[in-house]
Amino acid sequence: MNASSFDKLIVQEVAPRDGLQIEPTWVETADKIALINALSIAGFTRIEAGSFVSPKAIPALRDGEAVFQQIERHPNVIYVGLVPNLKGAERALASRAGELNLVMSASQTHNRANLRMSCEASLMAFGDIVKLVKGSSQATLNATVATAFGCPFEGKIDEDRVIGIVDTYREMGMQGVTLADTTGMANPRQVARLVTRVLERLPTAALTLHFHDTRGLGLANVLAAYEAGARRFDAALGGLGGCPFAPGASGNICTEDLVNMCDEMGIPTAIDLEKLIALSRGLPALLGHEVPGQLAKAGRNCDLHPVPEYVLQI
Ligand code: COA
Ligand code: ZN
Repeated sequence: MNASSFDKLIVQEVAPRDGLQIEPTWVETADKIALINALSIAGFTRIEAGSFVSPKAIPALRDGEAVFQQIERHPNVIYVGLVPNLKGAERALASRAGELNLVMSASQTHNRANLRMSCEASLMAFGDIVKLVKGSSQATLNATVATAFGCPFEGKIDEDRVIGIVDTYREMGMQGVTLADTTGMANPRQVARLVTRVLERLPTAALTLHFHDTRGLGLANVLAAYEAGARRFDAALGGLGGCPFAPGASGNICTEDLVNMCDEMGIPTAIDLEKLIALSRGLPALLGHEVPGQLAKAGRNCDLHPVPEYVLQI
């Protein structure tokens, strides 16, 4: 493959949802809205702007309705809301989410920890959500297989089980499917194998990969998935993120690090890296701590340093 033949890589920005859900400090609704509005003009076509889960489970995102009501909706951006059950779907539709991202884990144990129900109960709820959405709205449905590459409680997840869930989602009428590596347990060979198998069953545009960088393999996994044919990836500004109900969870792959890798490799993303860096550099002040992303600290390759005086004199 030469550089000119690279296909576009689509990034869904998930910091407003996956990123903020684990933050211990309350982020004001107005600050969430300002962040989403700024991301909306950075070139993304998809932003996961919040979740419609129990406010007791995720207090940090309890203002989902207010956020969705008050953001400036950019016509090129689909605003996605994460949904665990029928009540969440009703809230998301009332808040005019453009897409509902339903979530269930491949691991029974993590599903119980995260959603307090079995996988079978989650799928029953999804059946009701499909009926609700098909009957009453223009919103699309995506369904996530969390812990698809490994579970912090159960360890290895059988690939056939993941494939079975993907098939079930498609049979139920989900337009999109996400494979999520909730606690960064995936490796590039495993990713290539699973992506290859999944793309035999659904179109490229219907598959999203969601990686966490918990063990430093995030971008390696992106590249393995891209080379196996995947084109859509979740990433979070600053490398924020993590599931509060998965022990050891840490940040998503960092959006600006991913976009920088793509820019350097000649893979188009249509995302404005300078805007991202500026936004990412504002995160420590917003959240009260440093963030994991590396590019905002290091600068781009083209951000050269002045040559020291002593060097000029040699
Ligand atoms: N939005 C808001 N409130 C909700 C809700 C939703 N989607 N679903 C349930 N609730 C409320 C119920 O109305 C009830 O309220 P009450 O105590 O005032 O009567 C309460 O939550 C308990 O309802 P129940 O159906 O018994 O939920 P639960 O306690 O078994 O929890 C979930 C199930 C799915 C709602 C909860 O585990 C959850 O929201 N998990 C999401 C976790 C998450 O976001 N993880 C990270 C992303 S993957
Ligand atoms: Zn995640």
